[in-house]
Amino acid sequence: MKIESDFLVIGSGIAGLSFALQAARHGTVAIVTKREVTESATNYAQGGIASVFSQDDTFDAHVEDTLVAGAGICHEDVVRMVVEEGPKVIRNLIEWGVQFTRSGEAFDLTREGGHSQRRILHADDVTGREIERALVVAARENPNIRIYEHHIAIDLITEAKVTRKRVAPNRCLGAHVLGIEDNVVRTFAAKITLLATGGAGKVYLYTCNPDVATGDGVAMAYRAGATIANMEFMQFHPTTLYHPHAKSFLISEAVRGEGAILRRRDGTAFMEKYHKLKDLAPRDIVARAIDNEMKTHGDDCVFLDITHKDPEYVRNRFPNIYQTCLEFGLDMTKDPLPVVPAAHYLCGGVAVDANGETDIRYLYAIGEAAFTGLHGANRLASNSLLEAAVYAGRAFQHAVEELRQNHFEFPVIPGWDSGTATDSDEMVVVSQNWDEIRRFMWNYVGIVRSDKRLERAMRRIRLIQEEIEDYYWNFTVTSDLIELRNIATVAELIVKCALQRKESRGLHYTINYPERDDIHCRHDSFIKKQF
Ligand code: SIN
Repeated sequence: MKIESDFLVIGSGIAGLSFALQAARHGTVAIVTKREVTESATNYAQGGIASVFSQDDTFDAHVEDTLVAGAGICHEDVVRMVVEEGPKVIRNLIEWGVQFTRSGEAFDLTREGGHSQRRILHADDVTGREIERALVVAARENPNIRIYEHHIAIDLITEAKVTRKRVAPNRCLGAHVLGIEDNVVRTFAAKITLLATGGAGKVYLYTCNPDVATGDGVAMAYRAGATIANMEFMQFHPTTLYHPHAKSFLISEAVRGEGAILRRRDGTAFMEKYHKLKDLAPRDIVARAIDNEMKTHGDDCVFLDITHKDPEYVRNRFPNIYQTCLEFGLDMTKDPLPVVPAAHYLCGGVAVDANGETDIRYLYAIGEAAFTGLHGANRLASNSLLEAAVYAGRAFQHAVEELRQNHFEFPVIPGWDSGTATDSDEMVVVSQNWDEIRRFMWNYVGIVRSDKRLERAMRRIRLIQEEIEDYYWNFTVTSDLIELRNIATVAELIVKCALQRKESRGLHYTINYPERDDIHCRHDSFIKKQF
């Protein structure tokens, strides 16, 4: 079964939807998304979107804060471009119906770690949910957009793959996609394909990402031959709720932005020991400090304390966090919240240029799936929604120009061939490998790494990958198997990039090379599949 459209968008967070809404002015758009359309990391973003709106703030200050957090390897031209285009894309979001919290006429700006100013626009503490709501409404109303929910992309279709020849540059022609509810593999042929598949937190045992965050875009792009970069920089959010049933629920950094203090079990505040900005230090430093405090004192968690603030203010400012914690028996206006770090954001991804285009022609990647050079070795809080919105506009403009200048005909694409694959009666292989990868990634490739741990992880990945490939070719594909194959690929890329970096920088900390080495290592890590 073949579905043709001008634009194929894989993923339905802020990146995919804001690209789709613009692309729909120029052609037909198919959006493929694994669960319900709203189920994306965007939907769970609490903090907000950073941009210069205050009289006391400047583009230079936002650029500087981003560069400092990025620990020496942000691409300064990209940082400046994203920061300066911020106010314009925020106005687009508002036109699509997003309602940010205001204080009188002006936006109510909050603060987060690493920011020298109040510059985070937010919608209470459910900013992502509000953005997703507005964009989904706009997309559903658009006659040029068709949304395919419960559809998971298996692999990209490229000219090289179809013709079985080396082509340079290779071209993307669409993707093979599995309908999860009817088990039918469909061929989505498109002139332009956009990866907006989000991050890969599910590679780790503890993550505040939703279940869909399995690095599908990065894995598919890598398999298709695109360049991938900086995968060693996985950001661990310092404060997720420590509770057996909370599934690492995020406690927004904005809580510290509004004055919360991190304390040990005995009440001692400890961040002063680690950074002059104390609780508002950049995220890598806070996460490592918590990890160190927990290990040194043998504690399972630390505590985030905002009990000194007016309870009425806390309830109004953080209604979602307050209510969710209450459901777990914790009243944040009275009880310090038990918190631990968890995998949160992938700073690396599919390498793209300033227009979001990968090194496969007509294949774009934006949002968390992409590596643009903005985040360097550590993303500044609330720069991610901003980056996604800015690159959606740039990718759209570039793609439309490509369509204008080139004549496209849909090539003949062979349908999906499932060969002699049969239904599996051994799903335990899939679940066992899922658990194993996530556990060794957490233990060996987490906040503190070493060469030995990374090598151990690599050996296990190789074994598991052999098993997955064997399974993949012999049994009919399922969404669990597709995701497992993708997290194994992402795990491999993280470990390979981490092994390449013989220093500690930003989010990558290794006990073998505890110092930053600006002479030999001040560069990105690139990786490309050899065919
Ligand atoms: C948060 O609310 O702490 C998350 C914000 C972000 O990751 O940018």
